[in-house]
Amino acid sequence: MIRKSLLLVLLAGTGTISALSVAPPALDAWPAVRPPAANPAVEQRVETLLSQMTLEQKVGQMIQAEIKSASPADVRKYQLGSVLNGGGSFPQGNKQASVQDWLALADAYHAASTTVAGVSIPVLWGTDAVHGHNNVRGAVLYPHNIGLGATGDADLVQAIAAATASEVKATGIDWVFAPTIAVASDFRWGRTYESYSEDPARVRAFAAPFVQGMQGKAGTAEFLGPLHTLATAKHFIGDGGTAGGVDQGDTQVSESELAYVHGQGYADAIAAGVQTVMVSFSSWNGQKMHGHRYLLTDVLKGRMGFDGIVVSDWNGIGQVSGCANADCVPAVLAGIDLFMVPEEWKAFHGNLLAAVKRGDVPMARIDDAVRRILRVKARAGLLDSVKPSARVAAASVGSAEHRALARRAVRESLVLLKNQGALLPLPKTAKVLVAGAGADDISRQSGGWSLTWQGTENSNADFPGATSLVAGIREAVKDPSQVQYSADGSYRSRPDVAVVVIGETPYAEGQGDRRDLNQALAQPADFALLKKLKDDGIPVVTVLLTGRPLWVNPELNRSDAFVVAWLPGTEGGGVADMLFRTVDGRIAYPFTGRLPFRWPAEPTQAQAIRTASAPAPLFPVGYGLDAESKSTVALLPEFGAAEKPSALTEMVLFERGPVAPWRLSLGDKGGWSQPVSGGMTQSANGTVTVTSFDRKIQEDSRRVVWNGSGIGQVFLQSAQKQDLSAMKAAQGALVIDMLLESRPTKPVELRIDCGYPCGAKANISEVLKIAPLNTWFSLSLDLKCFENAGADLSKVDSGMLIATGGKLSLGITGVRMVPGAAEKAVIRCKG
Ligand code: BGC
Ligand code: BGC
Repeated sequence: MIRKSLLLVLLAGTGTISALSVAPPALDAWPAVRPPAANPAVEQRVETLLSQMTLEQKVGQMIQAEIKSASPADVRKYQLGSVLNGGGSFPQGNKQASVQDWLALADAYHAASTTVAGVSIPVLWGTDAVHGHNNVRGAVLYPHNIGLGATGDADLVQAIAAATASEVKATGIDWVFAPTIAVASDFRWGRTYESYSEDPARVRAFAAPFVQGMQGKAGTAEFLGPLHTLATAKHFIGDGGTAGGVDQGDTQVSESELAYVHGQGYADAIAAGVQTVMVSFSSWNGQKMHGHRYLLTDVLKGRMGFDGIVVSDWNGIGQVSGCANADCVPAVLAGIDLFMVPEEWKAFHGNLLAAVKRGDVPMARIDDAVRRILRVKARAGLLDSVKPSARVAAASVGSAEHRALARRAVRESLVLLKNQGALLPLPKTAKVLVAGAGADDISRQSGGWSLTWQGTENSNADFPGATSLVAGIREAVKDPSQVQYSADGSYRSRPDVAVVVIGETPYAEGQGDRRDLNQALAQPADFALLKKLKDDGIPVVTVLLTGRPLWVNPELNRSDAFVVAWLPGTEGGGVADMLFRTVDGRIAYPFTGRLPFRWPAEPTQAQAIRTASAPAPLFPVGYGLDAESKSTVALLPEFGAAEKPSALTEMVLFERGPVAPWRLSLGDKGGWSQPVSGGMTQSANGTVTVTSFDRKIQEDSRRVVWNGSGIGQVFLQSAQKQDLSAMKAAQGALVIDMLLESRPTKPVELRIDCGYPCGAKANISEVLKIAPLNTWFSLSLDLKCFENAGADLSKVDSGMLIATGGKLSLGITGVRMVPGAAEKAVIRCKG
């Protein structure tokens, strides 16, 4: 309604229709859906409860807080409707937490929520079990969705959803934030691996089976029974369609494209009875989804008939214009029912209460939200339920049955791209060299959302019961002593064949956004390893671990066989199953996996362009060889790959995180070089601490705090020396986007090193004495200054190093080498 009249005003104002770029909203662009029928007894019960609740209680029910920030006592006092554990958040912050620890915390929250004065409504706990119960030690991790997309097997997806639900339920948790039914359309997006496919039909085909596997079939006795949890269709809507594949960005498409490409899965998920829908961080044509009343209320709740909970994403409301994390009336009015306000929930409670009292939020909207929350709790059996530990059916976390299911999923997900001379499958008697950084690394094979949010900071010991790829190969061959393993590809005796495991390192969400898909540039060591083995004349089977299609022509050219393994999870045995024949030489398992995304022919070919004129990919969606296929791939163009791009563009060292090949490290006298990883890293003597924090999106920035106990440093370093001479010649400057939070107490130096002690420093203390406090600004330095001071810019390893012996607190959000920026640099040099 509102939009229609707005449109008329626009029309009147411009006078011509062609001047309008925004089409009128068209509800009939959206499928009308019929969800499973509501149960009158449940509805009656909900109304009775609602009529007994105070406004304070209702507002409490509309809140979902994070377990780190809300104790059971808080849940009792504020009658919070829900809690969640975010990625990498565990009971007592303990990564080793046992199933008993999870249950005990679930019981504590439940007890707190059911021992209140007045109406007591059990709290609902939600978790991101996005490829198995991935925050729990010992749980089975299945292939990420991209790998499931490659299987094309809806029954498998349903079985995995059911198995995941049972593991989640076994820890006392009733709600899972999955499935992601995004249709990733630009593979630079860091969440591409959470998407089943670029093909809306394939995503749609999995939506209902997943929901039915997880929740149980609506209308049957198993629905939300003891082995099932609630599911979440996410992220509504257009999360996979953002321009440039920028996480949380803007999806610039017509309404019909939004519905028919990005909305395909929702119709089926709702029809299958999905009980919750999570809102997307992204915008549609410039307007944030978290404030989008038309799409959340008119389309989702109205046209598509959704009668469950619309939940916001992690601080997503804070991104709506005019809003803060703790205060966002527009998001309430837009139709969000439950607010994921992980930390600032207390302030949110006060603000929402005040807004209702002021009359800014009508009571009918509050009642709609709470009614939905109660309805879902009632359907899930929560309102009658005993404590979580008393309704655990069986101890299924990490069960052999689930491992076998995951192993089958891995087998079905592998896609064979090349098989020169039918090299695969290998005989069990082959003398195998297993090489590559991914060969013995469960973190790498599992990717993001694996124990930690980013999937980093884990060792193999954190995954009891899991099998690495090399361990799987040792089990698969006839004589394990014939298997040599070395990450760097060195060997004692000449092997018959090398299995080389290369690929991406773990990431989640925006931290995984890339600028292009050129893998040889991103991981030059992988490329060099393949090249070395090829030069040695050893037949090479490459296994690629990746969360997206990558441009790998140089790697393909140096491989005899090439298998895309995606992010297989904990069951590395499934990869080995596919690489070897049976003892008597037969094919054990045929390759049935097919590409769920097109495979790029060029590093910049990153988009699913759905028109007839789209440039031809190297391999189309659906491609994949059968076992024993002799199909070869001709030598592919490399465009000077593994060399630097010729046109001199900006070089980015840090944007949302360090950009490969640059890595962020810190150090002090106790150790000068220690990688920064995860949310917080401290140098050996505690002199420097680096923590992640949010400027525009989660964890896009780092705060560096020096405590003054000695010299401490933070730096961006590349393992391969970088040649910055052309950058300098192009009047380049080093630009750091920083936030000065305290003035330095001792001199601060900014260095560029060419292999320490080769290097040069600039004193930036004077600038930091006058720079604005607590406001982002750009500190830029003419690269010439460093050369004048003795640095060899043709072989730079540390592109930026900041050191001081005093106290200092700095935020850093971007580090770049920018051509042409020297002249306007804050620090300039002559010569
Ligand atoms: C992600 C969601 C996730 C939530 C809770 C958000 O950052 O976008 O997919 O469910 O965090 O961890
Ligand atoms: C938190 C995770 C959470 C994620 C959601 C991070 O800042 O550490 O627990 O899942 O944000 O985006």
